[in-house]
Amino acid sequence: MADLIEMTDIVKTFQAGAKQVDAVKNVSLTIKDGEIFGIIGFSGAGKSTLVRCINLLGRPTSGSVKIDGTDLTQLSPKDLRAERKKIGMIFQHFNLMPSRTVFGNVAFPLKDSGLSKEEIRQKVRRLLELVDLADKENAYPSELSGGQKQRVAIARALANDPKILLSDEATSALDPQTTGAILQLLKKLNRELGITVVVITHEMEVIKEICQRVAVMENGEVVELGDVFSVFANPQHPLTRSFIRTTSNLSKIDQMIADHVPGVTPEIGEVLVKLSYRQKDVSEPLIATAARKFDLDINIILADVEIVAGAPIGGTVVILHGESEQISRAISYMKEKNVGVEVISDARNRY
Ligand SMILES: Nc1ncnc2c1ncn2[C@@H]1O[C@H](COP(=O)(O)OP(=O)(O)O)[C@@H](O)[C@H]1O
Ligand SMILES: [Mg+2]
Repeated sequence: MADLIEMTDIVKTFQAGAKQVDAVKNVSLTIKDGEIFGIIGFSGAGKSTLVRCINLLGRPTSGSVKIDGTDLTQLSPKDLRAERKKIGMIFQHFNLMPSRTVFGNVAFPLKDSGLSKEEIRQKVRRLLELVDLADKENAYPSELSGGQKQRVAIARALANDPKILLSDEATSALDPQTTGAILQLLKKLNRELGITVVVITHEMEVIKEICQRVAVMENGEVVELGDVFSVFANPQHPLTRSFIRTTSNLSKIDQMIADHVPGVTPEIGEVLVKLSYRQKDVSEPLIATAARKFDLDINIILADVEIVAGAPIGGTVVILHGESEQISRAISYMKEKNVGVEVISDARNRY
């Protein structure tokens, strides 16, 4: 995929009274044409500031922003206005105009497009169909649910046929089910219209659901960057690990052990281990094979395996029961198969 957005050495500093805020500190990031790229971080990390630099809604203090090879920071106001039409944006609180109907909101960006009234009508209807809101043309924003409002905002953002859609916490004000539907819509726009989507979020679920690559931000810096599968399978930065923990059931095991939940404490001779799948080709029925090969009973206590970026990821917590040496061999075998093996509790030498 070709590079579409190229941010180089972006610095953004705010002067808040006597205090200087370094919101973005020297970030370089390249986003490819056609991908869904996620930026995750806690509140205040600098995500919105960075993404507003992509359309120069906020001008970087220094650094360059190239879209399709054109450096936006060098353009005249008129040329910048034209370039900006290639970039749509949606927000957490939708930012609709309350006094205009759904139709009026979506038609608004088309007022200087040179299209005739009839062409605008057709285009708005097409957009409303695309977001599944054809029947709400004459409704006012106050008559819509949150998810419907965001659909209107998406249709409006698409009015000028952008190549890029920036989504700044677009699902953060929505319930989980509506969030899922909006994310599926973004995925559809990406797939069917080829729009490059930049998704800002503080929720790892969102990244897992639709992104192909992700940047993790903290204190104005990108602390981790990679394809979503590798980042989930092998997170490097403590912040990334803590974000991933929020999406996995496996982390519950520590609490369960602390709470002495029945069944999670190994009996004498048994070993409690956490297995994590870290590569895309773990398809072999590993647990069954290990049980047979080493004559063990393997009890699955917890399992959390999901499909991320098209491949299974996650793991299981199991109790291994059998001969001590065979248990050791089974553990080595699983490590050889590139499964992460963490012994949580070993009761083989306990009497
Ligand atoms: N217009 C502004 N004036 C002063 N400080 C700002 C402004 N916008 C953002 N900041 C500060 O920059 C930092 C990053 O903010 P922001 O980009 O909104 O983070 P995020 O979107 O990750 O929550 C924060 O400390 C925030 O207070
Ligand atoms: Mg923000």
